[in-house]
Amino acid sequence: MLTLDLNHAKLKEDVKSYQEEVNKIDETLRNHTCKGNDFTGWLTWAQDYDRNEFTRIKECAKRIQENGDVLVVCGIGGSYLGARAAIEMINGIYPENQIEIVYLGNTFSSSYIAQVMKYIEGKSVYVNVISKSGTTTETALAFRILKQFMEDKYGEEASSRIIATTDKARGTLKALAEEQGYETFVIPDDIGGRFSVITPVGVLPMAAAGIDIDAFMKGYADGSGEYSDPDLDKNPAYRYAVARRILQNQGYDVELFVNYETQMQMVAEWWKQLFGESEGKDGLGILPDSANFSTDLHSLGQFVQDGKKVLFETNLYVDQPMIDITFPNDKEDKDGMNYLAGKSVDWANKMAAKGTLMAHEETGGIPNILITMPSMSAYDFGNMCMFFFKAIAMTTLMNGSNPFNQPGVEVYKKNMFKLLGKE
Ligand code: PA5
Repeated sequence: MLTLDLNHAKLKEDVKSYQEEVNKIDETLRNHTCKGNDFTGWLTWAQDYDRNEFTRIKECAKRIQENGDVLVVCGIGGSYLGARAAIEMINGIYPENQIEIVYLGNTFSSSYIAQVMKYIEGKSVYVNVISKSGTTTETALAFRILKQFMEDKYGEEASSRIIATTDKARGTLKALAEEQGYETFVIPDDIGGRFSVITPVGVLPMAAAGIDIDAFMKGYADGSGEYSDPDLDKNPAYRYAVARRILQNQGYDVELFVNYETQMQMVAEWWKQLFGESEGKDGLGILPDSANFSTDLHSLGQFVQDGKKVLFETNLYVDQPMIDITFPNDKEDKDGMNYLAGKSVDWANKMAAKGTLMAHEETGGIPNILITMPSMSAYDFGNMCMFFFKAIAMTTLMNGSNPFNQPGVEVYKKNMFKLLGKE
């Protein structure tokens, strides 16, 4: 379970004064009558998910692991960020003895696409193309290139090395997969892209990367219980949601999501999509930004400490590192670092976090929300998903907005299609 500390958040209102509003909104979420109620399938997914499909995911992942050097995950936005966030957080950036996961379909950058295609050339390749609509241009472009590559490389065998995760019945990808005989997995109708990491969208790439997906689902299922009580004293996800609303009332329009683990950078990218797409609408919302400390203390840290007071920080701390090491001793100590010899590097990381909190909160006057997760395990990732899902649903509904649509992302597409000459 994640824990929440609001003692450094400089809240000018009592969180508990929102209890009645939270109760009402929680009721609408629970009985699926809230705004966007068609997309609340994530609430009961831990009980509802298809166990047979889950078994098929494990079998497919085993095949990929046994025969492949590389799995290309081809998707964008909600069809990409969750899997990458999970894989990098749980396995670390340079995992040993795992098949390599490469990402495509998330950009129009010709240089990137060309380099990836060159990189996978001599390797044993599997492809997981992920798209609910099947028409997302970045993904469709990359998949066309990948499909031709796979057919040239493997001939008829190509279709057994391509796996499609898409809508159960509709869309061009579904039709193509059926025609070509690709194995398919389903993106449920009632779970939107940014909540879909808990479905085959996230779970198949995770399983292929050697992650314990049973533990991931258990963490998510436990989170369903742990963050379900509307009582603000008992629900840290809802307390966090209310604290964000209070801070926005105090004039803070930017939330800087901070972590101290390099392998959590993609968690921040996933969180930014979840929060930005859910809340940034109707002229409302808090702009989600992120920083990876202590790295970014040497860049953004200046602004946080001394710049315009537009932001508050939400720190996602981790109790147990994946691996700890100790500072080495040096006989000559010419760099003067021996005062740390024999000490834990993770302990130093935690001291950096403590010193930063004091600097930003006390000297800089920045409100700080502290969230702590026990470790970077599959279980804790699953649990964290439910924490942030519940928090963003509550906080957005408190604004009176629909947390589950994203009408704003269509505008650029219309312009782009016109410029590209799409009929
Ligand atoms: O949250 C969302 O809905 C989006 O980020 C989509 O996931 C993203 O645009 C990809 O869409 P699709 O899965 O249809 O290719």
